[in-house]
Amino acid sequence: MPALVLVGAQWGDEGKGKATDLLGGSVDYVVRFQGGNNAGHTVVVGDQKYALHLLPSGILSPTCTPVIGNGVVIDPAVLFSELVGLQERGVDTSKLLVSGNAHLITPYHRTLDKVSERFLGKRKIGTTGRGIGPTYADKINRVGIRVQDLFDESILLQKVEAALHDKNQILVKLYNRRAVPVELVVEEYLGYAEKLRPFVADTVLVLNKALEENKVVLMEGGQGTLLDVDHGTYPFVTSSNPTAGGACTGSGIGPTKIDRVIGILKAYTTRVGSGPFPTELLDADGDALRRIGGERGVTTGRDRRCGWFDAPIARYATRVNGLTDFFLTKLDVLTGWEQIPVCVAYEIDGRRVDELPYSQTDFHHAKPIYENLPGWSEDITKAQSFEDLPKNAQAYVKALEDMSGAPISAIGVGPGRTETIQVRSFLS
Ligand code: GDP
Ligand code: IMO
Ligand code: MG
Repeated sequence: MPALVLVGAQWGDEGKGKATDLLGGSVDYVVRFQGGNNAGHTVVVGDQKYALHLLPSGILSPTCTPVIGNGVVIDPAVLFSELVGLQERGVDTSKLLVSGNAHLITPYHRTLDKVSERFLGKRKIGTTGRGIGPTYADKINRVGIRVQDLFDESILLQKVEAALHDKNQILVKLYNRRAVPVELVVEEYLGYAEKLRPFVADTVLVLNKALEENKVVLMEGGQGTLLDVDHGTYPFVTSSNPTAGGACTGSGIGPTKIDRVIGILKAYTTRVGSGPFPTELLDADGDALRRIGGERGVTTGRDRRCGWFDAPIARYATRVNGLTDFFLTKLDVLTGWEQIPVCVAYEIDGRRVDELPYSQTDFHHAKPIYENLPGWSEDITKAQSFEDLPKNAQAYVKALEDMSGAPISAIGVGPGRTETIQVRSFLS
């Protein structure tokens, strides 16, 4: 039985939380495999709205086991405050499993994230300031602190000492900051050990055994394809692999076990933070998309940059993720435009370019070539089937499907669970 991967097809905030929650009742495990609390996944259940940062969105489905995989970076204070917040709202969080191999975000990672951004000035990435990049850098540099290190005081001390050896020099001498005392970090982090212990498991073993027993495992990506450190708009990216390959390394589930890869695709485009964005609208249409779509960051509260749909991006997402399906979200937000421009290709220094260029310089120079599609004015939020949509909305979806290279299997017409048109099942 299937392992499914769900990834963002653009620059994040496509509606991964809603899509995961929709599947939550039909899957046995939901696994976060990369990123950390830079993510903000919104789930609306009835009149209740939840903003999840670190916990898998499956935690809201009572029959589902939520898992934080080895590829995630965990800020323990955030983890516990998120757990308490959900418990206070009556959500059962006892089934959560956390990989002992996941890396921990510490106060010095958060500090370094913020000071290095300040140091970059105009060239800043616009990170969420949560310490994500410096924590992944330590992982790759082999000076990271892992969940399992909390259970051996002398190892934890040695590792924090090693990590702070050069960082304190950098903080003091380069950034004019105070040094971080080793003992303070060790003391704080030892304090998390016993609270974390009940959740810690060999998640790779658990997940692979579950698959052998025909259980269904859903891997929930954070961020999106163009924020991938390898495949995104580097250096304006996050420090992990939100693309489908990252689901394998970040969970310990091999690629041969994965049956479906679902790309969550917004019916228009948004981006938070710096970096190129060919279809960005700095006019009244951009403001209208932001207002109607509620495009404000769940994590940082920053306004999201908004623009029209970009088909080369969708095709690129199909390619680098091996997408089998798209879940098109927020179609309802486009109601009311007479014409809806869709970017079908770029003009780069006088040439027509049909695919996303690999060169950073080219992408910075890319100007969208638009095709105008006829809009619709009817309310579509109650539509339950494709046929319920106005003809022009159907044609918009079909056009996007043709341009994007994978079938659109679900369409979001509102933030709620039920505000979804399921064209074909993700599970059969
Ligand atoms: P994520 O990070 O990919 O989970 O996405 P976010 O939660 O950051 O942003 C998506 C926003 O759109 C959230 O406020 C969702 O509740 C909302 N949303 C998701 N799908 C739809 C949809 O089909 N229509 C509308 N109007 N809102 C949606
Ligand atoms: P979800 O999962 C949108 C962006 C930041 C910044 C860049 C690097 O909700 O889709 P980081 O703090 O990760 O080092 O910042 O990545 N970013 C996101 N943008 N949605 C997200 O998550 C994001 N997580 C990080 O704005 O540009
Ligand atoms: Mg988000």
